[in-house]
Amino acid sequence: MRVLITGAAGFIGSHLCERFLNEGHEVIGLDNFITGRPENIAHLFENPNFTFIRYDVTNFLYVEGKVDLVLHFACPASPVDYMNHPIHTMKVNSVGTLNTLGLAKEKGSRYVFASSSEVYGNPEVHPQPETYWGKVNPIGPRSVYDEAKRFSEALTMAYHRQHGLDVRIVRIFNTYGPRMRRDDGRVIPTFIIQALRGEDLTVHGDGTQTRSFCYVDDLVEGIYRVAVTEGLEGEVFNLGNPEEHTILDLAKMVIEITKSSSGIKFVERRKDDPDRRKPDITKAKKLLGWEPKVNLREGLERTVEWFRRTLRGGP
Ligand SMILES: NC(=O)c1ccc[n+]([C@@H]2O[C@H](COP(=O)([O-])OP(=O)(O)OC[C@H]3O[C@@H](n4cnc5c(N)ncnc54)[C@H](O)[C@@H]3O)[C@@H](O)[C@H]2O)c1
Repeated sequence: MRVLITGAAGFIGSHLCERFLNEGHEVIGLDNFITGRPENIAHLFENPNFTFIRYDVTNFLYVEGKVDLVLHFACPASPVDYMNHPIHTMKVNSVGTLNTLGLAKEKGSRYVFASSSEVYGNPEVHPQPETYWGKVNPIGPRSVYDEAKRFSEALTMAYHRQHGLDVRIVRIFNTYGPRMRRDDGRVIPTFIIQALRGEDLTVHGDGTQTRSFCYVDDLVEGIYRVAVTEGLEGEVFNLGNPEEHTILDLAKMVIEITKSSSGIKFVERRKDDPDRRKPDITKAKKLLGWEPKVNLREGLERTVEWFRRTLRGGP
């Protein structure tokens, strides 16, 4: 296949490019580097099946030649990033989604949209199945992301219903692993860097809020299956690890794995920070035969190893 991946230089996008290339596909990566980094894809440039276009997907989009599959992953994803770029976040999930859907329609491509567990907001249903409609504050600080993802989902389904486009939506739950930025504000890189530097780990609130963390290789496997499996037109999938941990337990685990002398410091909880988030992955198990394989400790060990290496200046 000839595959277009937007957000190619980001955390998940770069792993996706690698995966599609490893499976023998041709990949066109597109990114404007607003939150991504050239280093994430530098090693792919020597691959003759990889082309990179530096471009803002909110501008008119045209790609020469056939495109079999479009994966729209461009979007600032960490709360710090999307609150720093609130209008851009809304644009990339509205105009950007429209442009990529338009391209997919013109080329007759299959389309996969990267949505988020944030569409469930601060959920009243636990764990969250795909059929849950969510509880989102439309004017809160996170709304630029949550509502934009909801709008993109609606737009994606409109292209499916009106134009018969073969679309699939993945609702990604917290994912972590190598290539996350040290300063992106997400809890795992923040804790790891604090621990490696011997600084106190900053836990928001009392740390009893829970999250479920998925290792990036597991997520990419799920996305790949959503993208290549036949007969999934118009389907939505939760992809994430249902293993649930409190933020306090996560902090303790990071201190243990890094053998750090750091302590834990409690700071004010962020506004609209959800209490619990855990995917119900029954549908992905049934239709994709997919479930995560890497547990939190193992994934953290791999991620810590990568952060240690890059702190020393390694690749
Ligand atoms: N990582 C997670 O836990 C998670 C959870 C839910 C959803 N997602 C979704 O997955 C996707 C990728 O997330 P990530 O964690 O890799 O984030 P990321 O910030 O590392 O990557 C996003 C990439 O998109 C690029 N980008 C942003 N706006 C662009 C534009 N207008 N034109 C071209 N490129 C643009 C950025 O430069 C960056 O390289 C996003 O859509 C995000 O909402 C991620």
